[in-house]
Amino acid sequence: MMNDNYKKLKNDFKILELDMSYLDNAATTQKPKIVLDTLRNFYETTNSNVHRGVYKISENATRLLEDARKTFAGFINAGHNNIIFTKSTTEGINQIANSLERTFVFNDNDIDKDNVVVTEIEHHSNFVPWQQLCKRNGLEFRIVPYNLKNNDIDNISKYVDENTKIAAFTAMSNVTGLIIDVDEQIKTIRKKNKDTIIIIDATQYVAHRRLDVKEWDADFIVFSAHKIYGTTGVGIVYGKSKFLESLEPFFYGGNMISRVDTYDSSWAQIPEKFEAGTIDAAGIIASSEGVKYFQKNMNEYSKLEENLKKYALERLRSINNLHIIGHDTKNYGPVISFEIKNIHPHDLATICDRHNVYIRAGHHCAQPFMKKLNVTSTSRVSMAFYNTIRDIDNLVDAINDAKKILQVK
Ligand SMILES: Cc1ncc(COP(=O)(O)O)c(C=O)c1O
Repeated sequence: MMNDNYKKLKNDFKILELDMSYLDNAATTQKPKIVLDTLRNFYETTNSNVHRGVYKISENATRLLEDARKTFAGFINAGHNNIIFTKSTTEGINQIANSLERTFVFNDNDIDKDNVVVTEIEHHSNFVPWQQLCKRNGLEFRIVPYNLKNNDIDNISKYVDENTKIAAFTAMSNVTGLIIDVDEQIKTIRKKNKDTIIIIDATQYVAHRRLDVKEWDADFIVFSAHKIYGTTGVGIVYGKSKFLESLEPFFYGGNMISRVDTYDSSWAQIPEKFEAGTIDAAGIIASSEGVKYFQKNMNEYSKLEENLKKYALERLRSINNLHIIGHDTKNYGPVISFEIKNIHPHDLATICDRHNVYIRAGHHCAQPFMKKLNVTSTSRVSMAFYNTIRDIDNLVDAINDAKKILQVK
């Protein structure tokens, strides 16, 4: 991108005026001005509860909310009735897991146990809900291993059989940036068992690659708005109509009912059936502006991120005793985990902070993956399109400083 364009881009993010190199975008992205303006504007001009009032501002709020639903639907090429708003990816996956549990009877054949398949690289939010569902219902919890030799997960279909009720896996690792060929994985799973319910955690993927629900035959896809320039507190669940129509809701309360009687109740149509209580309309509406902002130049942003990732890899690889996890021949997004011999990731992150370089250290909510990698934590750098070569240079300077301070070669 030309320099002038870049200046304009920086102007869209007030927080980037701060003296910092923000390299923790996989945790959450910064918010463009349009998102913050929309949020303020909503509360100043339209604030009221959606779906409730018959007066003008409530009707306006409802219309804006439904427009936002169309924007999120358009972002992944889905129908707007296939979009459910939740609080986050975490809430979305828990909601799906619990709704499936309330709807289906597991272990209904006496001979073989039913099973659920996940991978070893999942974020805890796509791991623990399935682990616990298995524990509660006596299902077998199957884990597709990560292979340290080729830095990839095994073929998921190898772990799928006629008793696999659910397969849940990420489209992109939040630890290493590894991108999974979701289309291919789903095709092979379907060949083995066409009835397995497939859930995709697209939380990191949607920030870097275009997602078209029509290209993946997934039953559910989940992501959070705050990772794609929207506000915190907004999650998106895409579900196929046949499931959304037949599943029992998990949350009960206002807005999600059609009728409530003394001893029984019936549910509203989708999507309301899954949106009990007051949802974060202001956040959803503001986040939809973030999505529009992002979507408009997504291809160009992906190229910027790709170039930046290449530069970061080149510079990091030139540092003695720094080991990058993965980023070999396969497809990776701009998320890089690394270790430096004899430097603890937390010490490194603390020294980076002194340089105003913000990176993440820890297990990245992926402890099973850490265990496989034989580490307790890694240092993680994750980039967005507004990052610059200078941010990476600052990172490398900070790493070299850490080595000096800690007297490590
Ligand atoms: C791959 C992945 N899945 C799920 C989540 C959970 O997202 P949230 O905290 O917004 O629920 C994250 C967050 O880092 C993630 O990276």
